[in-house]
Amino acid sequence: MTILQIIFIIIFWGLICSFISLAPWVPTKKSDLERIHKLLHLQKWQKFLEIWCGTAQVSLYVANKFPEAEVIGIELSPILYVFSKIRVFFSGQKNISIIFWNALHLDFSKYDVLYVFGLPETISQKLFPKLEHWLKEKAYLLSYCFQMKNNAFIEEKFKEKAEWNSIYKYSQKAKS
Ligand SMILES: C[S@@+](CC[C@H](N)C(=O)[O-])C[C@H]1O[C@@H](n2cnc3c(N)ncnc32)[C@H](O)[C@@H]1O
Repeated sequence: MTILQIIFIIIFWGLICSFISLAPWVPTKKSDLERIHKLLHLQKWQKFLEIWCGTAQVSLYVANKFPEAEVIGIELSPILYVFSKIRVFFSGQKNISIIFWNALHLDFSKYDVLYVFGLPETISQKLFPKLEHWLKEKAYLLSYCFQMKNNAFIEEKFKEKAEWNSIYKYSQKAKS
């Protein structure tokens, strides 16, 4: 097998894997980044995780807006992972790292704020069961566009009249 064939298999596997796993690559709209910023309250040293980071557009934006927070993006497609790493390197941003891994195998309890743009079925059926067990107290998840079916979190919906889509915020219910 030649090196070219190996590279082709790795890339092809990555694309297929990420497509069937959670969501195909469709980026968050650039014009919505400011809306996301307004919903974030990131303190010094808090950890922000972009669960399927694609080209790291959102992660880089957040890292830039909150230079004292730690930003982590995780991506399963090798092409998008390498693209994100190069993009981060040339941005010069120091408080951001990109991980090549299956987001569903991550320990979410380490993070304070999570962001996801995934299909409604995948976030409801695959992501929710993990978050239900691992989302730490006072942590919250922002879901771009899509609602996550769940019975465990407080859901808030953010959408102004002029906006075409919603952003959902999920946080822990107060423990009684
Ligand atoms: C809808 S895109 C969102 C990209 C980015 N978050 C944004 O908003 O611009 C979903 C991304 O998730 C990646 N992905 C799918 N399944 C994954 C998994 N299990 N672990 C990590 N990344 C995954 C895909 O490769 C794709 O880049």
